[in-house]
Formats: sequence, structure tokens, C-alpha cells
Amino acid sequence: MISKSSIDTVFEASRLEEVIGDFVQLKKAGSNYKGLSPFSDERSPSFVVSPVKQIWKDFSSGKGGNVVAFLMEHEHFTYPEAIKYLARKYGIEIEETEQTNEEKEKQDTRESLYLVSEFANTHFQKVMHKTDAGQAIGLSYFKERGFTPETIKAFGLGYSLDEWQGFSDEALKKGYKLEFLEKTGLTIVKGEKYFDRFKGRVMFPIQSMSGRVLGFGGRILTNDKKAAKYMNSPESEIYYKSKVLYGIYHAKQSIAKEDNCFLVEGYTDVIQFHQTGITNVVSSSGTALTPEQIRLINRLTKNITVLFDGDAAGMRASIRGIDLILEQGMNVRVCSFPQGEDPDSFARQNTEEELRTYLEENAKDFIQFKAGLLVQDAKNDPIKKAETIRDIIQSISKIPDRIKQEVYLQECARIMDISESVLFSSLAQMGSKDSKKPSSGGGNSNSGSYGGGGSYGGSSQEPPPDFFEVIRNEDQPNNKVDVQYLLERKIIEILLLYGNREEDFEDLILKENDKGDLELEPVVQQAKVFEKIFLDLQEDEMQFGNETFKTLYYTIIDKLNQNPDFVLEQFVNTVDMHLSQEITSILMEDERHTLHDWERNNIFPKSKTEGVAQLVSETILSLRCFLIDQKVKEFQQVTLENKHDTNRNILEEVKDYYGLKMLLSRKLTRVL
Ligand code: CTP
Ligand code: MN
Repeated sequence: MISKSSIDTVFEASRLEEVIGDFVQLKKAGSNYKGLSPFSDERSPSFVVSPVKQIWKDFSSGKGGNVVAFLMEHEHFTYPEAIKYLARKYGIEIEETEQTNEEKEKQDTRESLYLVSEFANTHFQKVMHKTDAGQAIGLSYFKERGFTPETIKAFGLGYSLDEWQGFSDEALKKGYKLEFLEKTGLTIVKGEKYFDRFKGRVMFPIQSMSGRVLGFGGRILTNDKKAAKYMNSPESEIYYKSKVLYGIYHAKQSIAKEDNCFLVEGYTDVIQFHQTGITNVVSSSGTALTPEQIRLINRLTKNITVLFDGDAAGMRASIRGIDLILEQGMNVRVCSFPQGEDPDSFARQNTEEELRTYLEENAKDFIQFKAGLLVQDAKNDPIKKAETIRDIIQSISKIPDRIKQEVYLQECARIMDISESVLFSSLAQMGSKDSKKPSSGGGNSNSGSYGGGGSYGGSSQEPPPDFFEVIRNEDQPNNKVDVQYLLERKIIEILLLYGNREEDFEDLILKENDKGDLELEPVVQQAKVFEKIFLDLQEDEMQFGNETFKTLYYTIIDKLNQNPDFVLEQFVNTVDMHLSQEITSILMEDERHTLHDWERNNIFPKSKTEGVAQLVSETILSLRCFLIDQKVKEFQQVTLENKHDTNRNILEEVKDYYGLKMLLSRKLTRVL
């Protein structure tokens, strides 16, 4: 774990506008910056960065938050990855806590493996560009493949000299330990001897989602039939093949933006697609797709398009693995290329537009595709047909969403010319088999939050659909709920913006006058805004209806109580993601105006800091009135239902509430 103090240091050092500026072109707009949303395609900017509040908001996608939230959204980092990224950017040394010696050693080993890999990456590129052999063999090979210098640079392609120890010796000379060279697999150690694994190969560095080099693929350039065409780094403490997708670092943003991921077979397919202009593409590099790899994609999009080479045998083999993707609730489409072509060769021969058109016209929904394919196979063979049906139902049973399952069943019934009810009953059989074996099928444990409610299993416990209709109270229109929501939200906003301000509050106090009658008399009291809010709301034992606001309310009051110099910017960084998202929305609401060049047109929105006291009183009183109104209605309901049982206590309480309401209303009128 990264220590709390390191996290604090990182937050202190980070300037949101600088961090975001590395990814988005920002222009000054009043006290803010604005730019084009990196999360959607747009022409006019709706992305606002507030250097004062140190938060950002994207009005087109609704996303927003602090500096870490930006990196998590944009770079798809995990929280620790984001902190580490910032630490690197600002030259801060991270302290890790609660590590045993063993963990520390492991951490150090991993760090060393990263360093060795990074060195190798630079080395192979340098060798290719700066040595005669590198240029004559490596570079010219890539050029012949049609890769441009930009592509070669972007993917860090390199060359490993055809020498037994060229790379290893260079690394050892630079002080990298043989132990780590061996652990990354870059060097093979045999007793006293050692030699380069990738001797004489062109090199493809394999990067993590955040761009660190984890391992390499190396392609041979000779026609040696005995040697493998491609050689890959072995697994190591930093390279787990099943968790890595080649190209993910270059593809992650466009995968999210295009909301689709193309899956191809190898390095060259990924690179050629990129060069042609389609960048949302990754490869599982030789191995069958694993659940971890699918989850990697699932973080970015729900849609995947698998691209097959033009040979039928390979295609039929790959189809088996696709059920895994369905299991994770993803939508799968497949597309094959003409006979003899693979994605690489096809992309090379076509323009971006042609390629896009081809993919659009030829990508088919997986289940339909599979059904079509199998129907062809089984045409006049009833036994085979039965098998085929089972095979397809198997795929459909992996889909966690029941509605989708139904749609597919209907579709397959049509394609395969068989009755829907037969398909439904065999699905039911298969489903019940699956549910007894938790390891297969169902797949819900992996599918995370996706499709939660609509999935398998709990249907018998679900309430009937009209259940909620029944309990909804007819004479309480829904918009009343919104009033409470808005007022609660306003209170949070006030607390965040002005919680600490000292203000003069005018209040009306009930006093006895000379004649002995009760009268409202104005008094002015000085108080901090948060104290005023807390005390007033406590008076009615009022509770927030919205859980998020409730949590925020108590957290903020608590912070303000503990620390009179409460700083808003830090607060956003200390709460969890969904709270910080809410805070950002609240605080950036009024920043919308900076999108419209109002300043330039000499229109200045009214400053909010005038009349804070009035705003506070008005909001609290409105909320209290609203809640009391609700209470009174509740009591009315109770008394209505118990007509015969004239409960004196209830009547008394209603009277009290009426009194309070009158009082509050008078106060509110006065404030207004
Ligand atoms: N591949 C692999 N291991 C192999 C063969 C292929 O990992 N033994 C992967 C590589 O990532 C490669 C992709 O599959 O990019 C395509 O395979 P292939 O066309 O055989 O490789 P190319 O380098 O394109 O070879 P060629 O020039 O002969 O087409
Ligand atoms: Mn090829």
C-alpha cells in the first residue's frame, strides 16, 4: 500500500491543469480552462477544468472529479497506478506501507525487471536505427512490410543483433544484474554461459495498459524451418501472458471512444490496422483469449469484434473460445476476411475507408454467425443437426442477460428452422445443469455489476412488476421528491462553498410582549454557516433522504468541526469515488457558463458570495417546511385510515406540526 503521507504529497504537488494538459488541449476561459471532451467526439468544448477547485467536469459525458479521477477515466489506471503516475511526473518518491520484507523484496524485484525491460526496449530501438546491421536488416524488414517511420517509432519496434551475447553484455556493462536479465527471459543462462534469447530477431515490445514494457515478441528473419517464426518472452513477475493484450496501451482510448474493440491474432495485424487508421484494436498474441484479457477489454467497452483470417479451419477452432466472451456479458461480433487474407494483409491493401466499410458490412453477430455456419455443416444430417443445436444453445446459455438470451433463441429458431419452444426447453435444461456446477456457465461472478438485475436465477424471488405501483401514494406527485433532493443538494453545495464563513443570521425568536402574548422578534446572531445549518436541521431531527447526500453531510460537518481551516480541494481527494463524483457535479454546476464566452460578451453572472446568510436561511427553512409538510400528510393518512380509533396523541402532534409550520412559513416569508 502507498502510504497516506505519500498520497498527500502527491495531491499537494499535482496541478490538475498541468496533468490534464498532457492529454487535452486546454484554453483559458475566465478563471477556468476549457477544451474538447476527451470522452466523446465533439466540435465545441464542454470540458471544464477549474484550477481553483482542482476539479474537472465533462458536461458532454457527465464525468468529473479530481486529478486521480481524470487519470482513472482517461488512462484507465487503477487508483495506485494513478498515484504512481503523478509521483513520477512530479518527481516524488513513493513510500509503501505495511510491506513485509518479503513483499518489499518482491516489489524491488519487479521494479528491477521493469528497469531491465525498459533498458532492453531502448537498446533494441537504438540498435535498429543506429547500427549498420540494424538498418540493413531490421529497419529494412519493417519498411518492406510497409510500416512507416512513425508507426515504427510509435510501437517501439527494434532489432536484436545476430550475436550470441550482444544485448546481454551491453546490459551487464550498464550495471543490470544477470539475475534480472534471466528473470525477464531476455538472457538465457546455462551454467557459466549466457546468451541472448532474441538473437537476430526484429523486436515488438509488449506494453501494459499504462505503457510499461513487460516483455517482447521477436520475429525471425531467416527462412530457418526449425526455428520458431515468433518467439515471446517467458512469463515473469511482471509479464503474465494471460493478463496482457498486445496493443492495449495504444488502443485503450479509442476503444472507449468507439465503444468497440477489434480483436486480431498478432502483432502485425494490430500495427497495420493502426497505420491504416483503425486504432481500437488489440491482440492476444498467439494464445487463446483468457477471462482476464476479456476483463481488460470489458473495462473499456461491452462490444468486441473478433477478426478471423480467411481460412476456415482456423476460424472454426477460434470459435470455441468465444463463449468465454459471452460469459462476461459482452456483445460479440465476428468478421472474417477473404480467403488467403489476414487482417494485416487486408489492411495493407486497403484504405481506411475501404477497411471500415468492409468491417461494417461483414461483421456479423456471433450467435447468428455460428448458427449459420453450423447449419451449413449439418445440412442434411439430422444427428449432426441435433448436435449443432446443442452447441448453439450452449453459447446462448453463457449470456448473463435473460432478455438477450430470448432474442437470440428466437433468431436461432428462425435461422435453423426449428420451433422456439424446443430451443427454450433445451436452454432450460442446460441452465439447470449449469447452476448445479458453479464453475461452469452462469458466469455471473465474473460479470461484475453488468446487467445485475436482469440476470439468471433470482426471478422467482423478484416482486411482480406492478409491486411498486401498488405502494406508490397517489396523491403525492413525484416532483415533491425532487424538491427534497434539490434542497438537500443545495445544502451540500452551501456547506462545500461557504461552510466555514462567519455570517450574521437574522432569526425570529418567540418572545412574550408586554401584554403577555407571544410575538416573533428578530435577533441577529453571528455563526459559522455549517454550525447554523447543523443546529437548525437538528431541531426537527431531520434526516436526509438521499443516502449520498446524507454521507456527505455528516462527513463535511465532521471535517469542519475538526478542522476550522477545512480546505475544499483536499476534501475531494479524501472521499471515495462516487462521493467525489457527486461533489464535482455540485461544484461545477455553475461553471457551465464559462463554456459560453459570457465574459467576452460582457455578461457577468451574479457573484454568489453576496447574501450567503440569506441563501442559508432560505434553503434550510424551505427544507424544514417541506419536511414538516410531509409529516403532516403522513399523520393525515394515519388518521384517515384509523377513522374509528380517534387517537388523541396523533391529533395533538398534528396540531404541533401545524404550529411549527406556520412559524417556519412566517420566517421564510420574512427571509424572502
Ligand atoms: N504469430 C505468433 N506466433 C507464430 C506465428 C504467428 O505469435 N508462430 C502471430 C504474430 O503475432 C503475427 C500474427 O500471428 O503478427 C500473424 O501471423 P503470420 O502472418 O504468420 O506472421 P507474419 O509476421 O505476418 O508472417 P508473414 O510475413 O509470413 O505473413
Ligand atoms: Mn502475415
